[in-house]
Amino acid sequence: MEKITIFDTTLRDGEQSPGCSMNLREKIEVAKCLEKLRVDVIEAGFAISSPGDFESVSTIASTVKDCTVASLARANIKDIDVAWDAVKHAADPRIHLFIATSDLHMQYKLKKSPAEVLEAARTMTAHAKKYCSNIEFSAEDATRSDREFLARVVEAAIAAGATTVNIPDTVGYTTPQEMRELIEYLRNTVPNSDKAIFSVHCHNDLGLATANSLAGVLGGARQIECTVNGLGERAGNTALEEAVMAMNTRRDEFPFETRIDTTQIYHTSRVIYNIIGQRAPLNKPIVGKNAFAHEAGIHQHGVLANKKTYEILTPESLGIPQGSIVLGKHSGKHALEERLKELGYNLDADELQKCFEQFKVLCDKKKSVSDADLTAIVTSRSIQDVTAVSDGYELDWFSVHTSNFTTATCTVCLKKNGEKFESVALGDGPIDAAFKAMDNIVNPPEHSFELYDIHSISEGKDTLGDVTLRLMSGGKNYTGRGLSTDIMEASIKAYIRAINKLCAAQ
Ligand code: KIV
Ligand code: ZN
Repeated sequence: MEKITIFDTTLRDGEQSPGCSMNLREKIEVAKCLEKLRVDVIEAGFAISSPGDFESVSTIASTVKDCTVASLARANIKDIDVAWDAVKHAADPRIHLFIATSDLHMQYKLKKSPAEVLEAARTMTAHAKKYCSNIEFSAEDATRSDREFLARVVEAAIAAGATTVNIPDTVGYTTPQEMRELIEYLRNTVPNSDKAIFSVHCHNDLGLATANSLAGVLGGARQIECTVNGLGERAGNTALEEAVMAMNTRRDEFPFETRIDTTQIYHTSRVIYNIIGQRAPLNKPIVGKNAFAHEAGIHQHGVLANKKTYEILTPESLGIPQGSIVLGKHSGKHALEERLKELGYNLDADELQKCFEQFKVLCDKKKSVSDADLTAIVTSRSIQDVTAVSDGYELDWFSVHTSNFTTATCTVCLKKNGEKFESVALGDGPIDAAFKAMDNIVNPPEHSFELYDIHSISEGKDTLGDVTLRLMSGGKNYTGRGLSTDIMEASIKAYIRAINKLCAAQ
C-alpha cells in the first residue's frame, strides 16, 4: 500500500486561530502527544511571527526526535532565514514557504504581478534549498488560482528544489470533484511533477475539508495537512482523526496507509481540548462523546445484539477508555496503577503518587470512582503540571454564603510562597463574589471572560464538576481548569490557574 504523509499543523494553523493560543509548555506537551500519535510532520509554528513563536519552534525542533519539524515562512529572505534558524537543530528539519497565486491575493494582498510571484516562488525556494534539503512550497489560495499559472509556479518551485508541493484550499471554497481534478491536472501537466510529493491543505468553511482532502488523495496527493480536532482558522482545517479513520475504515476506497497510532487519537484530542479550554461537540465525528452509538444512549435491539449494526469503528481503536471496573475507597495504589495502565496511562512514581492522593480525596466524597473520573484526574493533573505557573497563587480555603434573597458573599484565602492572603467580596452570585475576592488579592491585569464552562464528568449527583475558564487580555487567551465535587471549588481553582497564567505573561 502507498503511504500518506500526515502533516500536522495544530501548532501553526490551529494555534493561530482565535481562542486557541498556547504557551510554550503547552505547545511542547502537544508536540510530545503528536510524536506519540506518530504524525510524520509537525508544523511547529511560524518562526518569524513573534519571539515566542521562534522559541517554541526551536524548542520543539530540539525536543522531537521521531517526526519532521517544519516552520512556516513567507517567500522572502528574512522569513526563510528565521525559519531555518528555528528548525536547524531538528532531527529532520523542513522549511515550509508559501506565496499566494490567485489573482485576488496577488492584486489586493501582495500587490505583485504574476511574473513577480513566479520569480519569488523560484528564487525563494532556491534560497531555502541552500539551507535544507526538505523544502515544502505552498501556493496559497491555489484552488481559486488560474490553473495554468498555478502549474507554472509549481513547476518553478519543483525545479528550484521543493520536495513537497502543497495545494491549499485556503478559504474552504473547493469541492471534492474539483480538488481531485486539480491534483490530477497538476500531476499530468507539470513536467517535473514526479520530482515532488503533492499535498492538500483544506479549510472547512463549507464543511468539506475532510472530503476535499480525501479527494485530493484520490487525485494523487500523498500528503494531507490537518489538525487534531479540526482546529484552525475560521471553520478550521481537515481534522486529522477524520481523515485517518476514514482511510482506515474504508481501505476498499482508500488503499493507503499512514503511520498514525490510532489508539493515541482520543488522548491527544482530549489533551488539546483541555489546553485550549474547549470541549468536543457531542456529535463531533470520531472524538465527540456521542460518536459511538452506545455513548449516545442508543439501546436498540440491533446494538445490543451486535454493536456493528450501528458502529463502523471501535472505541478501542481510538484509545477510548472502556471497561467497567469501578474503584473505591478500599482500592490501593496498586489497583489504581493497574487501572490507569489499562486506560493507557503509564505514570511515573511521582505522578502516580499525586494521582493517588487526589483519588483518595475523591473516594471520601464519592462512593465509587469511574474510568471517566480517573481520566479526568490524570488529564487535569498533567494539564495543571504543564500549564502551572511556578510561583502562582494557590487556594488555601474559601467560604461562601448565598441564598435567593441576599447578596452572595465569598471569603477566599490564597497562598503564595508560604504567605497567606485573605479577602472578602459581595457579588452577583457566589462565583462573581469569589472571583472578585480573588481579584482583590491578585489584582490581575484587565481582562474579559471569554468562556465559563462547567460540566459533569460522569453520571450521578456526586459527580465531579469540571470547570474550564478562558480569559482574554491583550488579544491572547489564558485558560484554567478546576476539578472538584464542589463546583465552587472547581470554579475558584480554574480562575486562579487562569489569572496566574495571565499575571505571568504580563
Ligand atoms: O490555508 C493556507 O493557505 C495556509 C498556507 C500558509 C499553507 O495555511
Ligand atoms: Zn491554512
